[in-house]
Amino acid sequence: MKPYITLGIETSCDETGAAVYSSADGLLSNALFSQIELHKKVGGVIPEVASRSQLEKIEPIVSAALERAGKTLEDIDAIAVTNKPGLPGSLLVGVCFAKALAWAQNKKIIGVNHMEGHVFSSFLENDVPFPHLCLTASGGHTALFLVRGFGDYELIGHTDDDAAGEAFDKIAKLLNLPYPGGPEIEKRAQQAGFEDFFAYPRHNPQSLDFSFSGLKTAVLYDLVKRKVYDIHAKKLLDDSQEIKNQVASSLLVCIGDIFAQKMELALKKYPQVKAITFVGGVACNKYLRARLKDVANAHNLPFFFPSPQYCTDNGAMIAFVGNYKAQQGKFSDWNLDILK
Ligand code: KG4
Ligand code: ZN
Repeated sequence: MKPYITLGIETSCDETGAAVYSSADGLLSNALFSQIELHKKVGGVIPEVASRSQLEKIEPIVSAALERAGKTLEDIDAIAVTNKPGLPGSLLVGVCFAKALAWAQNKKIIGVNHMEGHVFSSFLENDVPFPHLCLTASGGHTALFLVRGFGDYELIGHTDDDAAGEAFDKIAKLLNLPYPGGPEIEKRAQQAGFEDFFAYPRHNPQSLDFSFSGLKTAVLYDLVKRKVYDIHAKKLLDDSQEIKNQVASSLLVCIGDIFAQKMELALKKYPQVKAITFVGGVACNKYLRARLKDVANAHNLPFFFPSPQYCTDNGAMIAFVGNYKAQQGKFSDWNLDILK
């Protein structure tokens, strides 16, 4: 197989990522600009603010990725870029930039599904056996995949509404905690000893699908019932650390139970799998990793998760997927569009 060097570009939401991956030497660089500080002020991502920041950062980040890899555009065989799913304005920046580069330098272009990037992000540091089960959990997605080979994966369960990360972010906002909510909820849950104080509802144990908007509503009504939150004034009435830590802890344990239960169900349905992976921004969470590792151990299966910089959005996973797609001869053409 011909060895390829791919440049990967990721701009689907609020991170500008670029990386260089070589099929002979692995990951050569990974450059990133995160807009977290920009969105902290309003407690969430405003799409137009996100796309304007992408436009500002795309050139310096791509240049940094090439420079850190010790490569120039001439050394690159193909340019891989996230073209779906994501915020349209943000995606357009990456796709237009990648197309322009590819056109000017006469390079091949490869559209990459952001979810496929997350699914294969565990390969940046590990050789994961096929077939395996992959739980992808981020601010935009929560999904279970049966992964049979490179580029060969099947969606076996997904969220019908909010994503797990979204639940962390929205509930953190209710509690006046900073954006993004996940890391803050984890810190506070640890302070409360990972205890389940409020027994929020788990959901349909027969299904591999997820639903987190009901959980968010259940937390809200529980806070109203306890006179901690005024739903009309949209105001937290009890600003004590104790209640915040207890909600965080109960929420994390609840989501841990849901993840563990879904993984058990998936293992029953797909007993042939040889490993479990946990990827996406939410996979930074040490408590949730431990819960899934327990499931893997109980089934004598190896468990893999990427380092935090490859859990959250990054160019490395896009460069990696682009690399095996190049080897498989799966290139895009000049009609490459976003969200298609
Ligand atoms: O993968 P990602 O960077 O972006 C999307 O594709 O959405 O994931 C961001 C999400 C946010 O919702 C954030 O709250 C969550 O990942 N997150 C965490 C942790 N670190 C980030 N959730 C739980 N625990 C964490 N330690
Ligand atoms: Zn993502």
